[in-house]
Amino acid sequence: MKFFIDSANIPMIEKFVDMGIVDGVTTNPSLLAKEGANHPIDHLKKILKLVPGPVSIEVVATGYENMLEEARQIAKMGTNAVVKLPMTKDGMHALHTLSQEGIKVNVTLVFSATQALIAAKAGATYVSPFIGRLDDAGMDGMDLIRDVVQIFRNYSIKTEVLVASVRHPIHVIDAAKLGADIATLPPDVLDKMFMHPLTDIGIKKFLDDWKGVEAKYGDIFKPPK
Ligand code: G3P
Repeated sequence: MKFFIDSANIPMIEKFVDMGIVDGVTTNPSLLAKEGANHPIDHLKKILKLVPGPVSIEVVATGYENMLEEARQIAKMGTNAVVKLPMTKDGMHALHTLSQEGIKVNVTLVFSATQALIAAKAGATYVSPFIGRLDDAGMDGMDLIRDVVQIFRNYSIKTEVLVASVRHPIHVIDAAKLGADIATLPPDVLDKMFMHPLTDIGIKKFLDDWKGVEAKYGDIFKPPK
């Protein structure tokens, strides 16, 4: 399973890129609005340079022509730029045109398997089902991942299933068990994925036990003077 970071926060992205666990990044207008310091275009260009993989950047235009214009600008920002388009009829029309130009598109705001099928048919590189928002609305977001993964497998559809609106590590495990291609992870969820109390207890015990050895020999990894 590939891990994308669902954030526009450069220090956060950098932290996980430096660990070698980031395959890409997804941004959206809400995430970019939180990062007020720079002009959004300059900010996005920094992210594109920093990340060794695809970076999804969302159009904010709504009509077909305006979407195309923004999408083409986004695609020119970097070789790893992926255009994020919403699951609307204009969005699918723009997707079809862009896919014929070789521009990669991530279809966002997917809440049903029929939407995912339409996006795949129109040429999406990625579809992003929003599981947390479905959970919030009293449904089980993971049912949608199960359906989409199964349908795409049935027809050998190449579009990748990018699990979005992830709220906790169990979402990641369940999506991985179902065979979803990618999970886009908010930094706080990724932080939680590192944690296990037995790891902390284990480190403490090793270090406590080592104190007696150091008392006798000093720091054995430092060359003697
Ligand atoms: O990037 C889109 C998606 O992951 C947003 O998640 O938490 O705002 O529902 P959320």
